[in-house]
Amino acid sequence: MSFAEIKRIEDDFQVETYKKMPMSVERGEGAWVWTSEGEKYLDLYGGHAVCATGHSHPHVVKAIQEQAANVLFYSNLVYSEIRAKAAEKLVSVAPAGLTKAFFCNSGTEANENAMRMARMATGREEIVTFTGGFHGRTADSISGTFLGKYREIGRPNVPGHVPAVFGDIESVRAVADKETAAIMLEPIQSMAGVIEAEPTFFRQLRELCDELGIILIFDEVQTGIGRTGNWFFAGSDLADGVEPDIITLAKSLGSGVPVGACLVNDKVSRGIKVNDLGTTFGGGMLAMAAVLATLEAIESDDMIANAKSTEEFLRDSLAGHSSVRSVKGKGCLIGIEFDGSSAPVHSKLLDHKVITGTSSDPNVLRLLPPLCVNKHEIGILLSGLNSR
Ligand SMILES: Cc1ncc(COP(=O)(O)O)c(C=O)c1O
Repeated sequence: MSFAEIKRIEDDFQVETYKKMPMSVERGEGAWVWTSEGEKYLDLYGGHAVCATGHSHPHVVKAIQEQAANVLFYSNLVYSEIRAKAAEKLVSVAPAGLTKAFFCNSGTEANENAMRMARMATGREEIVTFTGGFHGRTADSISGTFLGKYREIGRPNVPGHVPAVFGDIESVRAVADKETAAIMLEPIQSMAGVIEAEPTFFRQLRELCDELGIILIFDEVQTGIGRTGNWFFAGSDLADGVEPDIITLAKSLGSGVPVGACLVNDKVSRGIKVNDLGTTFGGGMLAMAAVLATLEAIESDDMIANAKSTEEFLRDSLAGHSSVRSVKGKGCLIGIEFDGSSAPVHSKLLDHKVITGTSSDPNVLRLLPPLCVNKHEIGILLSGLNSR
């Protein structure tokens, strides 16, 4: 089918949600995608922050194909070797205190369950989140999303959500108390424009949570699975070594097969009994094959080190660039702040066949490339930026 035909049919039969780029993606490999018209694009947005291992990584594809031929699905009502291996592998790369996984299907579902677990562990209801954080579009997650219009879209909101200021411990102290079940945050606020906090902020949050008996949740839907140049933001130097009680994951976790997860410590898992939590599809075999293969591919291809060196290369290359005000973020989660609106840069790059992302900050262009992106590919971005 031609692009015009595909577009017409999709526009006719699909509810309009996202503002789409004018292309139909038919094939992907590494950091590249090919359109229905045979054009080749460099994807520095990683399929919406999802394709950490690159598009259609051969190891992931093989694992999914083999799993599909064996059995596509059975729920948590039965045991499964592939689920056992995926859970064991995920816990093995997590910070030491996070010892068990709960599998679900998306980032928002992971956050909903994380908040529920915190309420179960504490017997309290209130949740503190942060202005600028994004946690998803289902009722509880969107009620904790104090960013732009999102909370409004989710009305009526779930009660008991209170915002604090990201990076400001005094603002957290002002709203957190012994009624607070959880403090939940994106350790780097990606959609808000790749906003970072000092490592000491995470240490202060941990101390406050310990003092008041609050569960600390890191929403690592974007920062997890190697994205920042560490398996997780949690436990890394970026967080001053701090481990939360729960980490939530999705996006990169299955290389594009929908899957989410909560990683929890013993304090949290002890409070959960049979039937407290559940989801039909969470832990299904196809998704588990994708998770295991994703983690193996990241490890065997040394993608975490590559994410780190990609950041260094980008920072060095953009230093002194006439229209770049700052470079934010870590690893393969990068925000390039321009002197003015980033929208013309985004479209110019698209004309040069380079896909990038925008953010809620009009001046910040977001890059979430596959963790296997190489210097030559970053060079293509740089020449696109420098072109007229
Ligand atoms: C930090 C963060 N949390 C949660 C979500 C929600 O994830 P999902 O769209 O898989 O529900 C997103 C999605 O963009 C996200 O960026």
